[in-house]
Amino acid sequence: MTERDACSASIVDVASPSLAVELKDISKRFPGVVANDGVNFELRIGEIHALLGENGAGKTTLMNILCGLYEPDAGEIRLFGQPVRFRAPRDAIAAGIGMVHQHFMLVDSFTVADNIILGQPSGILKQNEKQLYARLKALSAQYGLQIDPAAEVWHLSVGEQQRVEILKTIDRGARILILDEPTAVLTPQEVEELLGILRTLAAQGTSIIFISHKLKEVMAVCDRVTVLRDGHTVGTVETRACSEQQLAQMMVGRAVSFSRTQPASQPGAPRLNLRNVWADSDRGLPALQGINLTVHAGEIVGIAGVDGNGQRELEEVIARLRPLKQGEINLMGTLAHIPSDRNGMGLLADFSVAENSVLREVNNFPFNQRGFLNLRAIWNYALQLVQKFGIRTPSIQTLAGKLSGGNAQRIILGRELSHNHQIVLAAQPTRGLDISAIEYIHHQLIAQRSAGVAVLLISTELEEILRLSDRILVLYEGHIVGAITAQEADIHHLGLLMAGKG
Ligand SMILES: Nc1ncnc2c1ncn2[C@@H]1O[C@H](COP(=O)(O)OP(=O)(O)O)[C@@H](O)[C@H]1O
Ligand SMILES: [Mg+2]
Repeated sequence: MTERDACSASIVDVASPSLAVELKDISKRFPGVVANDGVNFELRIGEIHALLGENGAGKTTLMNILCGLYEPDAGEIRLFGQPVRFRAPRDAIAAGIGMVHQHFMLVDSFTVADNIILGQPSGILKQNEKQLYARLKALSAQYGLQIDPAAEVWHLSVGEQQRVEILKTIDRGARILILDEPTAVLTPQEVEELLGILRTLAAQGTSIIFISHKLKEVMAVCDRVTVLRDGHTVGTVETRACSEQQLAQMMVGRAVSFSRTQPASQPGAPRLNLRNVWADSDRGLPALQGINLTVHAGEIVGIAGVDGNGQRELEEVIARLRPLKQGEINLMGTLAHIPSDRNGMGLLADFSVAENSVLREVNNFPFNQRGFLNLRAIWNYALQLVQKFGIRTPSIQTLAGKLSGGNAQRIILGRELSHNHQIVLAAQPTRGLDISAIEYIHHQLIAQRSAGVAVLLISTELEEILRLSDRILVLYEGHIVGAITAQEADIHHLGLLMAGKG
């Protein structure tokens, strides 16, 4: 038994000796939404427990309640058998709860050590720097965290920054660690490292809640899974006793398939060709450094890579939204663009669904007739789009900003894919969307390919790249560092290329 177990055992009550957290009938409403509706959840001491659910299922809300950010409207929280009530995050921290949020909360210009003591009751001044460094080094070694306390945060990779967040919670004495979608920002190798750290923490007595919608990771690291859907608990299962398919079904409420089912591509003539393309980032640094690629009719070429390696610049330079510094881009046909920046380039949040559906051609016949908008034509067109692309909206007059991410993306898809085009540029087309929306968008992209369209898919989601692409190119620091066909794709090899180690 570790020291941590011993210390938690002393305050355990006889009723539930093995439970770190009990959430009973938790409800939380926001205006117009019931985010949690009588949710039940139990975390055992030393287990890694996944909280699985689609976007909007209520996972973050539930954990924000557990970490003291929100008070529940109803329900009870018990920690190690004792009822507790948190009025602020500091109450939860004092009770041993640590949360690593989806967006890190570190100060870039500070060192690791300063970030860790920031906001601690004892303050920066009272800490002896030597002792602090020694303590952080010891904790890092104990949990395999590999962090230099003196490093400044802006020097660190995303994976390292995440380790700082974890170290911060441990340093504050967290016995319950909550991670909200921690792998969304990591390379496959960083994911492996993180999962290793979580296993070490759990083996030493930390109880962990792992929020995710990635089934593979959940299966790999979690002892149990609780599935939420629409604010309700669907159930809790042992990962050993279930399959990915079963979990997906619990999550979505129906059977889903993510296997690659499309036949091999029959590529035709070249449609998009980049020769020695150079472009700068917004900060004037060389972001693309001599990109060569060709996409043919009837194939999907996937650009894999960790965010920030030139993806945005590549997208923008092809869409003519960013100047080309050197090289040549040839489009043999019309381009449809599904932009990564849905709010900026994709949709106008303060405009209606109808207005958004004709955004590109509002000046063209029949929507515009001799300078006058033809509302009937716009509405008819929007209604067709809503029907054809299954856009769930109260009406076509609803503001686009009010729709869920999945439905907003369907408008963009509908608008962009309804015209005569030969090339599709799809950038991060499913980022932040739930399984049902992802499945829909994947079907649409495969349908484009089957119709003979050339598709360039830029995505940081490796599963998506593997599922859809006929050929995969890896983008690393502005260079194409690898080219792989769908048949020879191997996630480990891709991961190495993405980390610049291929
Ligand atoms: N602060 C808030 N104000 C209003 N609505 C919210 C707030 N936080 C979450 N919601 C809504 O509650 C529901 C659950 O959201 P969330 O807990 O973030 O789900 P998940 O983390 O599973 O994606 C969603 O419909 C979301 O829009
Ligand atoms: Mg969330």
